[in-house]
Amino acid sequence: MLYDDNITLWGIDKTHDESKQGEALYYEYEDQGFRKFYIESYGCAMNFSDSEIVASILSSQNYMPTRNVEEADLILINTCSVREKAEDTVRKRLQVFNSVKDKRPDVLVGVLGCMAERLKTKLLEEEKIVDLVVGPDAYRDLPNLIAKVDEGGKGVNVLLSREETYADISPLRLDSNGIVGFISIMRGCDNMCSFCVVPFTRGRERSRDPYSIVAEATDLYNRGFRDITLLGQNVDSYNWKNKEESEQVNFAQLLERVALIHPDLRVRFSTSHPKDITDEVLYTMAKYENICKYIHLPVQSGNSRILKLMNRTYDRAWYKNRVDAIYRIMPDCAISSDMIAGFCSETEEEHQDTLSMMEYVQYSMSYMFFYSVRPGTLAAKKLEDDVPLEVKKRRLQEIVELQNKISLDVNLKDIGKVFKVLIEGNSKRSDEEFKGRNSQNKMINFPKKEGLSPGDYTWVKVTDATSASLRGEIVDTPTAV
Ligand code: SAM
Ligand code: SF4
Ligand code: F3S
Repeated sequence: MLYDDNITLWGIDKTHDESKQGEALYYEYEDQGFRKFYIESYGCAMNFSDSEIVASILSSQNYMPTRNVEEADLILINTCSVREKAEDTVRKRLQVFNSVKDKRPDVLVGVLGCMAERLKTKLLEEEKIVDLVVGPDAYRDLPNLIAKVDEGGKGVNVLLSREETYADISPLRLDSNGIVGFISIMRGCDNMCSFCVVPFTRGRERSRDPYSIVAEATDLYNRGFRDITLLGQNVDSYNWKNKEESEQVNFAQLLERVALIHPDLRVRFSTSHPKDITDEVLYTMAKYENICKYIHLPVQSGNSRILKLMNRTYDRAWYKNRVDAIYRIMPDCAISSDMIAGFCSETEEEHQDTLSMMEYVQYSMSYMFFYSVRPGTLAAKKLEDDVPLEVKKRRLQEIVELQNKISLDVNLKDIGKVFKVLIEGNSKRSDEEFKGRNSQNKMINFPKKEGLSPGDYTWVKVTDATSASLRGEIVDTPTAV
């Protein structure tokens, strides 16, 4: 899948649907004359998850969501700063929202998320294009900030917190199909990958109380959800301790607790960090059928010198060792990745190492980017962005072409296999067909059968494959892979 720098959803179901990026999130509500908010989201799964927290906070304060920006009293855009182009997209949308404000000056426009955190008051004071600027840890303050703006004051809160996890807030599942859900298990990131802006926009890493995670997952299961993804920038470093430090829960233990809620509840997670993923996690995955056999394990580069410059704290040999462990413990596990082409000083030979790593791992899919220097990061301060843009783009194209070939190869190997599939809805192509994913996170389209509906599991034999998806037909015998 090509992510040409402005499409930036990874590791979650919405990645299969690029049209979701920037789409207004919505939830059916009865009109009770409340003020209406419109919210548009960009960036990673955690940002989408945060928009659901924001929606929940606003709904408890007599706001109701609308899908129609023209009728909104409050327009919110939850933003991403990970690459320059992600920010450019937001600026373009802000121009559109300002034209709404020209027609209806009472409308408030607010920037949430990572760009709010990175640019702080700049958007409000220098550029004068918004009324509210709210960082990722300040959403509880939103109603108060709106009231301040209503009274003629400034609506800014970009304080980062060491504790906030929004554990007690039950997210309003916007635009959910009622089957697939996402649960944030931690916030922030303590890694300092030299290219990455996230530690600056999201603050210090903190793990959410496992009891609140299990309660939220149980509630989703009881409401009919069957596939949940536990979200964090580096889930393998999840490590919760109670106040007295007498109880501690690591990621493998959390996974087990969530898997035990019900065998029909599929559990996924994203993102894993190659330096932190443990054999304990892999054995826990192998032990429970409902923990999906799919790991998003971004390599970024296949070359050890570049990985060192990226401050990823693992090298090529370490990464291969983790991949070997995954395939040894779970031979049917699919692995996907993120790759950055043309990082500072990368040579042709080093780029070839990324290609050979892709061949080695046989990724089922990847999110692929060319390097975009981000102000304030270690790389921006210490390294020269010296690979010419045409070279970055050409290397990215080579990576994309190789990934397409590998995806097709691995998908063709699935022909003839039978998979347990969770039906998610009608296929994009036809109402006569269902779509659903297997444990390995591959989308399979297949003709419907009477008696089955979204949320049910069925067995599907794969009959055809492209690089992006599989086709199949329902079979009775559960001789699944
Ligand atoms: N936490 C995850 C990890 O460590 O793999 C990834 C989080 S990051 C928000 C998502 C992806 O964006 C990264 O894996 C990386 O490939 C890409 N990315 C981050 N900063 C970038 C930059 N400055 N230029 C290009 N791609 C970047
Ligand atoms: Fe960014 Fe690295 Fe943290 Fe991922 S692990 S969010 S790439 S700093
Ligand atoms: Fe973007 Fe922030 Fe996520 S920078 S990738 S929205 S953590």
